[in-house]
Amino acid sequence: MTGDELREKYLIFFEQKGHKRIESSSLIPHGDPTLLLTSAGMVQFKPYFTGEAVPPSPRLASCQKCFRTTDIGSVGNFKHLTFFEMLGNFSIGDYFKKEAISWAWEFVLDWLKIPKEKLWITIFLDDDEASRYWREIGVSAERIVRCGEKDNFWGPAGETGPCGPCSEIHYDFGEQHSCGPDCSPSCGCGRFLEIWNLVFTEYYQDAQKKRTPLPRKNIDTGMGLERTATVIQGKRSFYDTDLFAPIIQRVSQLTGRKYGDNEKADRAMRIVAEHGRAVVFLIA
Ligand code: GLY
Repeated sequence: MTGDELREKYLIFFEQKGHKRIESSSLIPHGDPTLLLTSAGMVQFKPYFTGEAVPPSPRLASCQKCFRTTDIGSVGNFKHLTFFEMLGNFSIGDYFKKEAISWAWEFVLDWLKIPKEKLWITIFLDDDEASRYWREIGVSAERIVRCGEKDNFWGPAGETGPCGPCSEIHYDFGEQHSCGPDCSPSCGCGRFLEIWNLVFTEYYQDAQKKRTPLPRKNIDTGMGLERTATVIQGKRSFYDTDLFAPIIQRVSQLTGRKYGDNEKADRAMRIVAEHGRAVVFLIA
C-alpha cells in the first residue's frame, strides 16, 4: 500500500463512520497567537473543542500537514521528522473513548492488516476505562502498559488550550531491537514505533497550567502517515518508504553518494532529504 493509498483509506474509513472530511489547514495557523506553526491535526479545530465555534459536523477527519521543531535534533534517526502528515479523527462532544478505541483497532487490524501480535498499547496511569475498552476488544493485559504524564497526557498544542490523557498504539519491530529486559513502548531505543495517539480531550489548560474541564468530552487522534507507511510497507525507516525513497535517490544523485554505504553519510542524506521536504512545505 502506498502512502497516498494509506491516506485515502484512512479518510474513507472514517467517512464510513460518519465523519466529515476536512482539508488540511495551512502550516501557518490562522488566528492562533499561541503557535508559530501548525503542530497537530487538532490545531484548526481548537475553537470547536473550547465551544467558541460550532463545527460543521460533530465528527471530523483530516490529514493535516504538521511541523514540529521539538525533535529537530533527532532528525535523521528512524523516529522523528520536522514536517509530517497527521491522519486524525475528531469527536466534538460526540463519541468518546469506547468508539475511538474500537475504530482504531478495527482500522489497524482489518484495513491495514497489521498483525495483532506486533502491537502494544499504552494508557495513562489511572485510566481504567481505556484499559477496559482495550481488553474488551481482545488486547491482552500484558500488552497494555501504563505510563505517566510525559508519555500519556497530550497537549496543549502551544501554551494554552485543550488537552487530556491519551492512549497510544505502538508497533513492535521485534525483540532483536530491544535495549534490554526493561525495554517497553515508552522506551526510545528503536524497538517500538508509536503509530497512533488517541487523545481523550477533556481539559483546558491555562497559562498558569491550571486545568479545567471543557464543556464536553472530545476525541482528538493523530496517526503518523509516514510512521504507519513504514510499518505497512515492511520497512525499518521512513526513508525507505515510497514517501521518501525518491527524495533520497535525488540526494544520492546530487551528491554522488550511494545510500546504504556508510552510516555517517546515510544519516546526513536522511537529514538533507527530511529538511528539503520540510522547507518545500514551509515555503508553499
Ligand atoms: N493531537 C494528537 C497528537 O498530536 O498526537
